[in-house]
Amino acid sequence: MSVPTADAAVDVWVARVHESRESMAAVEPGARTRVLDDVERDRWRRFTDPGAARSYAALHILARTVIGPIVGRDPAALRFDRSCVVCGLQHGRPRLIDDPTLRLSLSRTRSVVVLATSRAGPVGVDVERDDAVAFAGFEEVALHSDDRGRRRRERDAVPDATAWVRKEAALKALGVGLRVDPASVRTPAPGKPVVVVPGLQPVNVIDLALDLDPDVDAWHSAAVALVTNAVSVKVHLH
Ligand SMILES: CC(C)(COP(=O)(O)OP(=O)(O)OC[C@H]1O[C@@H](n2cnc3c(N)ncnc32)[C@H](O)[C@@H]1OP(=O)(O)O)[C@@H](O)C(=O)NCCC(=O)NCCS
Repeated sequence: MSVPTADAAVDVWVARVHESRESMAAVEPGARTRVLDDVERDRWRRFTDPGAARSYAALHILARTVIGPIVGRDPAALRFDRSCVVCGLQHGRPRLIDDPTLRLSLSRTRSVVVLATSRAGPVGVDVERDDAVAFAGFEEVALHSDDRGRRRRERDAVPDATAWVRKEAALKALGVGLRVDPASVRTPAPGKPVVVVPGLQPVNVIDLALDLDPDVDAWHSAAVALVTNAVSVKVHLH
């Protein structure tokens, strides 16, 4: 595994999680879960869906094993604060207590997990299965009225999954997540800073190519967003 280089504004780490029909007991990824802290272990054990539990554990193990060498600490010793700004519980945006200048963001589906790290500024990442947004009423729930109008006029509209991950990445970079109604947000164009939420800083969104195996993996879309002008991204397949 390589340590992220300083020439990219954001490093993105992608790992695939193998789905199976195993029982909850079989979810235990063995000794690797020993790196998790009490909050992570407690959350992991409370999942009733084995696939979600496996993906959650995989993502947090990935975060610790990647970030540990970057900041020169034992992965198991890393301290994260995840205080929710609304209620104070440990389910909010993660912050690395040991090195707060290393920003991070996490996202997962059942089969793909993604970590983004950056020293250029706040970062947000999102990954989604394309078929997860293929439901009746998606436009009304997720798209701004301007986007809906544009897709009626233009043939090459942004695909639904791309629009969704760009928005979620941007809202995660801003730290507000879905406390902001996604239908109130215009889909940000990639590669240039845009104000996504009035009154908050501009966000630079970049579409990610995950390089998954189309014969094995479901189609996924992903995007990363930075609260800076920087655009360089390095994707690491783990
Ligand atoms: C953040 C959010 C957009 C993620 O949605 P999702 O697509 O279901 O999940 P993803 O896998 O993409 O991302 C989950 C990660 O987002 C991160 N996250 C949580 N809140 C966040 C926030 N406000 N800003 C940025 N990142 C956040 C966490 O690291 C979380 O990882 P974990 O669940 O493994 O600990 C959504 O859960 C949300 O908006 N949450 C906040 C809503 C809120 O504040 N409600 C008040 C509760 S009291």
